[in-house]
Amino acid sequence: MARKVIIDVDPGIDDAMALCMALSNPELDVLAVTAVGGNVAPAQATRNVQAIIEQLDPSRWPRLGAASEPDNRLAVDRRSLYGADGLGGAGFVVAERQHLLPSEKVICDQVRDAPHSVTLIALGPLTNIARAFLRDPELPSLVGRIVIMGGTVAGPGNITPAAEFNMYCDPIAAQTVFRSLSTKTLIPLDVTNRIELSYDLFNRLPSESTRVGRLMRKLLPAAFRGYRQQFGLEGIHVHDSVTLAAVVHPELFTMKSMAGDVETQGELTAGATVFDRRRVPAWRHNMEVAVDVQRDAVVEAILHDLCAVE
Ligand code: BDR
Ligand code: CA
Repeated sequence: MARKVIIDVDPGIDDAMALCMALSNPELDVLAVTAVGGNVAPAQATRNVQAIIEQLDPSRWPRLGAASEPDNRLAVDRRSLYGADGLGGAGFVVAERQHLLPSEKVICDQVRDAPHSVTLIALGPLTNIARAFLRDPELPSLVGRIVIMGGTVAGPGNITPAAEFNMYCDPIAAQTVFRSLSTKTLIPLDVTNRIELSYDLFNRLPSESTRVGRLMRKLLPAAFRGYRQQFGLEGIHVHDSVTLAAVVHPELFTMKSMAGDVETQGELTAGATVFDRRRVPAWRHNMEVAVDVQRDAVVEAILHDLCAVE
């Protein structure tokens, strides 16, 4: 039976790519795609989710959730990486929808409908998931698993020297989720940074006659431009696609049980993830963390999953 998932995204071109992989994969039953502010502001994130789903037009549409303003957001400008609209200026026009429910409500409803069997895949700041947990305090124990893209264990951050972007955007939400009594898997930057996709990717994409092929060809050039201009790289990192790959192909990742928390206040360290890696740790393990990855196999898995179905 296909695995039930909810994907929480802040598109972002790598979020869009992860959605392409997920919605093409018969092993996943995508119940809902919920928007969260991050790479772009909440209203734009909601429009981008709609645009991506409309472009892909999957045989069964997931529920969609609308992003709202976070309570504790730290200001971050991500426009240089994915463009002002998060999708490299693709200019999609979306159908006007009056009645999109807030993302946290969609998450609560879907998890309540299928207790203990939904995997929440968090590819943006943890605002929605923290709100869902505050709204329904039983929810953490009803979620099957949360797989989170974010944080770092030993490496540097990517938005400040200490913090990874998704954690930094809403560290209080991240801390709420880290401390919740849910089953968690973290795919940190230390691991996602090891995967780099080169221009060769364009030769491997599905043809232009497919929806995924068309969408990826429209979005990816801006990502390559952004990575070259901002980081001097000829390839791109696809943190969210690596995280999706960890859900579908867990055998390609080495996991370790760890005790993690999030710094919410530091002048230099807000949003930093902290792990108790002392010889004799005092904190209790609260998540599985990816510590290694079969790099080439994950690249192949991403390309394969992107190309799997029209
Ligand atoms: C994360 O930050 C965002 O810009 C990406 O979409 C990804 O989820 C990587 O730090
Ligand atoms: Ca993201």
